[in-house]
Amino acid sequence: VDELVDAARGSGVGDAAAATRVEPWPNDPYPAGSGVDGRYATLRALLAGELDADDIVATLKDSGLRGMGGAGFPTGQKWSLVRGAQPGTTKYAIVNADESEPGTFKDRQILAQQPHLVLEGLLLGMAVVGAEEGWVFIRHEYGPEEHVLREEIDALRAAGVVGPDACGSGRRLNIDIFVSPGGYILGEETALLECMEGHRGEPRNKPPFPGNYGLHGRPTLINSVETFADVPVIVQRGAQWWKDQGVGDSVGWKFFAVSGHVERPDVYCVPMGTTVRELIDLAGGVTGGAEVGAVQPGGASSNFIGPDQLDLRLDFGTAAEAGTMLGSGALVVLAEGTDLLAASTNVLRFFRNESCGKCVPCRVGSTKAHELLRGVIESGSSTLDETQRGRILQLEEAMRKTSICGLGQVALGPVVSVLGIDKGGAAARDQPRPNGSAAQPDR
Ligand code: NAI
Ligand code: SF4
Repeated sequence: VDELVDAARGSGVGDAAAATRVEPWPNDPYPAGSGVDGRYATLRALLAGELDADDIVATLKDSGLRGMGGAGFPTGQKWSLVRGAQPGTTKYAIVNADESEPGTFKDRQILAQQPHLVLEGLLLGMAVVGAEEGWVFIRHEYGPEEHVLREEIDALRAAGVVGPDACGSGRRLNIDIFVSPGGYILGEETALLECMEGHRGEPRNKPPFPGNYGLHGRPTLINSVETFADVPVIVQRGAQWWKDQGVGDSVGWKFFAVSGHVERPDVYCVPMGTTVRELIDLAGGVTGGAEVGAVQPGGASSNFIGPDQLDLRLDFGTAAEAGTMLGSGALVVLAEGTDLLAASTNVLRFFRNESCGKCVPCRVGSTKAHELLRGVIESGSSTLDETQRGRILQLEEAMRKTSICGLGQVALGPVVSVLGIDKGGAAARDQPRPNGSAAQPDR
């Protein structure tokens, strides 16, 4: 365990990025190596009454920070909503650390190297919304990172930063870890809540959103690892500082897990608005100097973009405008010559396997689509005829419009996106579909 923990903290993932990054990571306001006493300054100030909870919410709103788990919901708005929900009732806060999207491993690095920022963000969230209990819901395979977190929580308890009289404020703030029993769908926030309540881990219909009706029906603040880890620096340095870090209209820093056919797959922290091409260059370029064939900029659930879109700026808005999404910050690069239909079918297979089966469109649609695509690939082809193509587009539309949660809604998006790339890039991706709607998922 010690070796794994050391690897998680220091070397292991992160070696390549260490050569190019500023130490400590740019979202860390504390000097490297500070202990509990030298950190948690924002939390102490809030609990001492030197900072106002409403001002923190206002700063987050002004900063433009958005949820880094994938959907990009405005963080200040979420905190404001939970703060205002059902005054006087019990509330909860949860870090969603069930990072499981294929190609996504940036939260793992943040947990290992910045547990203090994740926990300070969580504790700030608890104090702001009025929660006494908070958890880190962590993926069960993240054993070394869980260990690092437990050590940090123990240190916080020993120093009196958390507990019945947090920082001597008279306020009770308790935090703990909930280890996921396993399964990709538990990272969906309402399936996560069902799991923590002891039920089968299936998503709920939304709305109501967890901010109003969360754990045990109480208002619950749920943010991802990276989102919570960004809060302390924004509160300390101000909204304008955060906005100044991005490129152009994009704001702040963004962690990306870069993988696939690149020379240095790793976690990189770059200004939001960095282009796909710049990020690939940072990762040493395509393996062996090959050309890019296609890129998934936002994890397995994001649509592939073609080599004609490498100057795309990576932020929520521009990614959506380009027909893909920033998603979970996992940039997967495929070299020219890679069979894109096979690659996207592999993604679909993952979603089919991980579908919880609660709703028919996702359960049956993903199976039918995978059977069709597998048949094509096993026949030795890498393209679909018009009938097969029409079938896939119909299934994609049905799943996108009628599935309960994001898994079913986006499962076929990557496949549809490579049909466009096969036929010549962005223009082909936008061609009319059988019912005349756009070929990209709404989300
Ligand atoms: P969503 O759009 O339903 O919600 C995003 C967040 O905003 C949630 O916390 C939700 O409660 C909140 N929210 C949305 N509308 C709201 C409203 N009107 N009032 C109050 N709160 C509201 O998206 P979802 O399904 O939670 O997340 C999907 C994203 O997750 C995808 O974009 C995908 O990239 C990402 N994802 C990330 C993974 C990872 O490992 N990090 C794994 C799988 C997916
Ligand atoms: Fe389950 Fe799929 Fe329905 Fe989501 S869309 S609830 S994963 S069956």
